[in-house]
Amino acid sequence: MSSTTPILVIGATGKVGSRIVSRLQASGTPVRAASRRSSPAFDWEDQSSWAPALAGAEVAFVAFVPDLAAKGAPETIRAFAATALASGVRRVVLLSGRGEANAQLSEQIMMASGLGCTVVRASWFAQNFSEGIMLPSVLSGVIALPAGQRREPFIDVDDIADVAVAALTDARHVGEIYEVTGPRLLTFADAAAAISAASGSHVDYVPISLDDFHAALLPEVGPDHAEFLTRLCEEVFDGRNESLSDGVQRALGRPARDFADYCVAMAATGIWRRAA
Ligand SMILES: NC(=O)c1ccc[n+]([C@@H]2O[C@H](COP(=O)([O-])OP(=O)(O)OC[C@H]3O[C@@H](n4cnc5c(N)ncnc54)[C@H](OP(=O)(O)O)[C@@H]3O)[C@@H](O)[C@H]2O)c1
Repeated sequence: MSSTTPILVIGATGKVGSRIVSRLQASGTPVRAASRRSSPAFDWEDQSSWAPALAGAEVAFVAFVPDLAAKGAPETIRAFAATALASGVRRVVLLSGRGEANAQLSEQIMMASGLGCTVVRASWFAQNFSEGIMLPSVLSGVIALPAGQRREPFIDVDDIADVAVAALTDARHVGEIYEVTGPRLLTFADAAAAISAASGSHVDYVPISLDDFHAALLPEVGPDHAEFLTRLCEEVFDGRNESLSDGVQRALGRPARDFADYCVAMAATGIWRRAA
């Protein structure tokens, strides 16, 4: 990799992308941060925006929105890979989701595209509770999900970013599929208890049915996205993800961070403090 060509980060303002940008900038690596708000803008829904954002980059991090498990994602990834190749990109690091059939199809398409590809296939992000969709629930004191007593190995997004940066900056990671999870399986009740213990504010986990989950989402996100998220939960909470993977250890030579440590660090920032 030439040290003068920027590493393109797609999804640069997101949970994973923003951490990748910070790490690369801190090490003096040229970076091009891309999202709908960058200049040039990159929009997954506007193919004409892809080539201008890709021009001059040889290496790219790719976070697809809304989710590689979404309908149509494999076709979009196929078209994106062709545009990237034509633009001179040689290597990509693809962020993917664990246990999602459509996501795994997109991984295969990217791997077979002619681009050197590393897949970072992540479990449920710990940061969903502090920067993502579950923060309002944590602040309300009730996490309601159709996850029953399923156990999930929550992954710290800082670990995902570390793995992605390793792969972006070293071509020896090409061809690897790093399935990254935290070091322990926890139920959502365990997660709520860990957040409660660290923050000092009680949070309950309430298992709900898929129908109730869908009904609660409908007014917030509309019928299409409510249906997608409900089917996604049905898929990833059927037991398939109740195991640990060694992707962090394999990529970085160190263990993944523990959820309890994440909770202590987040509580210290005050993010979970409730209004008096
Ligand atoms: N959350 C989880 O537990 C989990 C687990 C496994 C995998 N994943 C995967 O992680 C990815 C999301 O990463 P993240 O959580 O870091 O992102 P995020 O925090 O949800 O942020 C989304 C990013 O995508 C950009 N964006 C939104 N709409 C866009 C569009 N139409 N075109 C181009 N960019 C767009 C946003 O920036 P702008 O608003 O500036 O455009 C932002 O940079 C998804 O592919 C998801 O499947 C998530």
